[in-house]
Amino acid sequence: MSSADTPAYSLTRPGTAPLDPPPLYSRLRDEKPITQVTIWDGRLSAWLVTRWEDARAVLGNPAFSSDQSHPGFPGQHPDMPPLAHGFFANYDPPIHTTMRSTLTRDFIIKRISALRPGIARTTTRLLDEMTRSERPVDLVERFALPLPSLVICDLLGVPYEDHEYFQQRSRVFVDGNATGQQIGQAWEELNAYLVGLLSTKRRNPGVDVLTRLTEHVDASTVTERDASDLAVFLLFAGHETTANMIALSTVALLRNPDQISQLLAGPTEAANAVEELLRFLSIVHGGLRRYALEDVTIGGVTISAGEGVIVPVHVANRDPESFTDPDNLDLGRANARRHVAFGYGIHQCLGQPLARAELQIALPELFRRLPGLRLAGPFEDISFKENTLVYGVNELPVVW
Ligand code: HEM
Repeated sequence: MSSADTPAYSLTRPGTAPLDPPPLYSRLRDEKPITQVTIWDGRLSAWLVTRWEDARAVLGNPAFSSDQSHPGFPGQHPDMPPLAHGFFANYDPPIHTTMRSTLTRDFIIKRISALRPGIARTTTRLLDEMTRSERPVDLVERFALPLPSLVICDLLGVPYEDHEYFQQRSRVFVDGNATGQQIGQAWEELNAYLVGLLSTKRRNPGVDVLTRLTEHVDASTVTERDASDLAVFLLFAGHETTANMIALSTVALLRNPDQISQLLAGPTEAANAVEELLRFLSIVHGGLRRYALEDVTIGGVTISAGEGVIVPVHVANRDPESFTDPDNLDLGRANARRHVAFGYGIHQCLGQPLARAELQIALPELFRRLPGLRLAGPFEDISFKENTLVYGVNELPVVW
């Protein structure tokens, strides 16, 4: 049961301010920064940790586990099937360490920097195609989704032609209304698809992550099953998030047109602008979920062993004690990069160099090529995603 003291943790944003966290959480952060909320229709309580400093204290502390198999773990769904080791965000060391280290080499900044010319070419091609189309154009369908999807396909060695198959199934993982059974089924279908691709790579190796995963299997670093699960996780994580960031950033910039010049001022300014957009939008609003393995005191509140914790990064990133005038989008903000939009601690986003590269290329290029870019209809008509763990827009009709 939820009550005034223990409200339900909700992903619903107010219609009047869809780019801001629900006002209740901002109020809680100011008045009762660590407080109990309920999830799963009131069946489970968990601590909501809303201040930036406390969020980092939780995420950086190994006493807070990500292992969803603990009974009472405040996971996204009550009937979540145990996901494979390859979904290593849901595991602690040593499983987490083994799985993550299989991939780190492919996501280091140096490797990702080498992808930049290819990302720029894809950006140009998509914008060329878009500008030749009849207006209005849905920016999600024509730009925000295909760009990261093409990039992750290229990096992994997955044929983009299959995008409808894997995008449809990826969407289930972030759908707050999906059942555990639907999530399990989507995972297994994607897994079967990737098992097929991995065996093709074994016969015809390429220069891609899937080929390297077959090498890891040969070296017995991971099992065949781990390799296909890791590939599923990357395929999903690689486009759901960045696609939402590109579309939502476009909305935020069109709402704050005075800021666009900062994005176009040069690479350093654009990089800072992207950090501020990551902070301001903090799309992973389902919150980062943890479970206390022992009693820990955070911000004066003792969280007992066996209790769950939710860290709503979108609320922590608007903490006025850490960011001046936090509800204001300020692309020149000096400390924007301190945000926790990519998490913090050992689970901090593995794909952040890639996400940054995509956003730093795509957003300035979009506004440079289309200086007259604007919404095709009123802001109030934008269809924001409801009850999805990663926030975004369903579609974004634009003209220029
Ligand atoms: C703007 C885009 C993105 C955002 C906002 C984002 C956000 C996050 C966050 C908040 C976490 C931490 C989860 C936790 O602590 O429980 C995370 C983890 C992760 N992300 Fe991202 N992500 C983005 C893009 C990507 C991309 C492009 C990829 C990869 C191809 C990726 C792969 C991963 C992986 C593998 C993890 C798990 C890391 C671990 O548990 O060690 N992400 N991401």
